[in-house]
Amino acid sequence: MLAPTPPMGWNSWNTFGGDIHEDLVRETADSFVAEGLKDAGYQYVVIDDGWQTDERSADNRLVADPAKFPSGIKALSDYVHSKGLKFGIYSCAGTFTCMGKPASYGYEQIDAQTFAEWGVDFLKYDFCYKPAGVDGPYLFQRMGQELRASGRPILYSVCEWGTNEPWKWAASAGAHMWRTTGDIQDAWESVERLGFSQAGLEAYAGPNHWNDPDMLVVGMYGSGNVAFGGCTDDEYRSHFSLWCLLASPLMLGCDVRKMNDTTKSILLNRRVIAINQDPLGRQGFLVEREPERFEVWMKPLLDGSVAVALFNRDHNPRKMSAAWESLRIHDRTICRLEDLWSGENLGEHDRAYAVTVPPHGVKLLRLTPIGK
Ligand code: GLA
Repeated sequence: MLAPTPPMGWNSWNTFGGDIHEDLVRETADSFVAEGLKDAGYQYVVIDDGWQTDERSADNRLVADPAKFPSGIKALSDYVHSKGLKFGIYSCAGTFTCMGKPASYGYEQIDAQTFAEWGVDFLKYDFCYKPAGVDGPYLFQRMGQELRASGRPILYSVCEWGTNEPWKWAASAGAHMWRTTGDIQDAWESVERLGFSQAGLEAYAGPNHWNDPDMLVVGMYGSGNVAFGGCTDDEYRSHFSLWCLLASPLMLGCDVRKMNDTTKSILLNRRVIAINQDPLGRQGFLVEREPERFEVWMKPLLDGSVAVALFNRDHNPRKMSAAWESLRIHDRTICRLEDLWSGENLGEHDRAYAVTVPPHGVKLLRLTPIGK
């Protein structure tokens, strides 16, 4: 199994768009090690669109832009591997990529082979310029088949934005994860629109097949390719909490060479990451919602405990509560409570727990039933 728990890594798009270079990728791999991202579980270093030249080679291969990748992709993937990490690349199911570069339609076999020869471990496969009259899911199936035939284990990340309800077919096309939404922006409105819209998709995710509401914007602070004003630290914490609850892939989108202390404290929090990476592999689900004001979500965990998140979507601080009854826990059950962001032991409670949550903030708890 390539993805028993949600894949973790970094992708160049959110911060750099097409402005990528092999030095950036090497430095990113270095930072994975130096900043502790690798130890925390982040593994895949993925280059997105913009790595290609405008034309294929005479023998129909995709070619890396020599100005951006003078040493070539194979040397770059070797470097990433030498750090104990995995290397990912991007292509598209249509006739061009979203940036107008050559894409894989009609070239699925040779491209899958090329990626395998380059030592690629992860393919993000996009959906721009779909040829008219061709079935979308079929195109993703074709690349899935060619990746399998390549003989190299390559994690397959389908990016068709939820257009054809990929949660219903992408796993059988060989995908390990599939985008369920359009592109994220570095703004709270975007984060909440994408994240909270995932309610109802929980039945479709599990080990080796994950819903993907797009990459993280934590730590971007309004600069980079998808910047739209940026978010506050509370908003980034809510964003990361929600993606962890959703068992979403955790693909970092900030410049990991330049993370500040708060960004590190979010992206490296082991207790919170453990919720995302819990081996049971359940996607969290909505328990209670007052539209635009508050949301309560829960995620059952392998050891019988549950992660519970109280999200305040309002502009004012708000007293919120988690009632055992709404969490499907018998209301005489004594539970030990832990605050997952701080690690604080919140004591033993039965029936309910109430707390004030800051605007656009979250209280993320782990409830462990210990008896009646
Ligand atoms: C689409 C995808 C993005 C990114 C760009 C690249 O918009 O959804 O994630 O890969 O294409 O051009």
